[in-house]
Amino acid sequence: MNYRHAFHAGNFADLQKHAILLALLAALTAKDGPLSVIDTHAGAGAYDLGGEMALRSGEAAAGIGRLLAMKNVPAVLAPLVAAVKALNGGGDGSLYPGSPLLIAGGLRRTDRYTACELRPDEFDSLRRTVKPYAFAEAIKGDGYATAAALAGKGGRTFVLIDPPFERSDDYAQIVATTKAVLAKDRHAVIAAWMPLKDLETFDAFMRAMETVTNDALAAELRLRPLTDPMKMNGCAMVMVGAPKSTEAAITEATTWLAGNLGDVGAKARIWRA
Ligand SMILES: C[S@@+](CC[C@H](N)C(=O)[O-])C[C@H]1O[C@@H](n2cnc3c(N)ncnc32)[C@H](O)[C@@H]1O
Repeated sequence: MNYRHAFHAGNFADLQKHAILLALLAALTAKDGPLSVIDTHAGAGAYDLGGEMALRSGEAAAGIGRLLAMKNVPAVLAPLVAAVKALNGGGDGSLYPGSPLLIAGGLRRTDRYTACELRPDEFDSLRRTVKPYAFAEAIKGDGYATAAALAGKGGRTFVLIDPPFERSDDYAQIVATTKAVLAKDRHAVIAAWMPLKDLETFDAFMRAMETVTNDALAAELRLRPLTDPMKMNGCAMVMVGAPKSTEAAITEATTWLAGNLGDVGAKARIWRA
């Protein structure tokens, strides 16, 4: 496991994932009854964009850095920018929240948050990050297995799946986990992140998802035409059970990011399988 999210925190992909995450959380916590959020690949919890890894990649500067420099942030990205500013005490600090802080900050005391992480160093940071939240628990274990085991226990289920794609079976694991979670709670909401390199891989994944659900929504953020499969040409969020009320935010966030952070030929493609 070589992947370190600190190289990528606050990049275009985090902006799409985290803006959509906040929109889903807002809709799901507007409903009565406890919500159980399982974050299968939680990472460290928060990142210092002034640190060596972030500076070396330059990805945050091209992502959240550009948003923070804007006078008029688009409304759909305003909740994420507000969360970044809040983490920095309202000032211009260099901290960026990972999914654990965004989720913990969006939940009510009656909800539950389970954050999974396998890497020991990331896990230590994750445990410290979620410690102040009584409803949160950090688990040093496999996120796919944990989601399948916990879904349907204690309230409505929301699963965020955000693997590093170091393993060749991550796409298959997402499909299998979706199937296992829906078997436990057919109303579960699931959101999975993935890179977009070539269309064949993504299409094959979506065809596999269609075998386990008829309610998949794909939000493709193509930074450039998908012609070079060796490059990360964009990313996608694929959601199951996303509330209808969130579709406008999902579309607006993805469209804005493609239009403003993409190359010539960038586009957003939002579609239902
Ligand atoms: C893309 S990062 C997570 C970023 C985080 N979701 C966020 O938005 O801030 C993926 C993380 O998953 C961890 N990981 C890899 N395989 C895992 C597994 N099977 N179960 C739990 N965590 C895993 C990696 O160590 C890495 O920290």
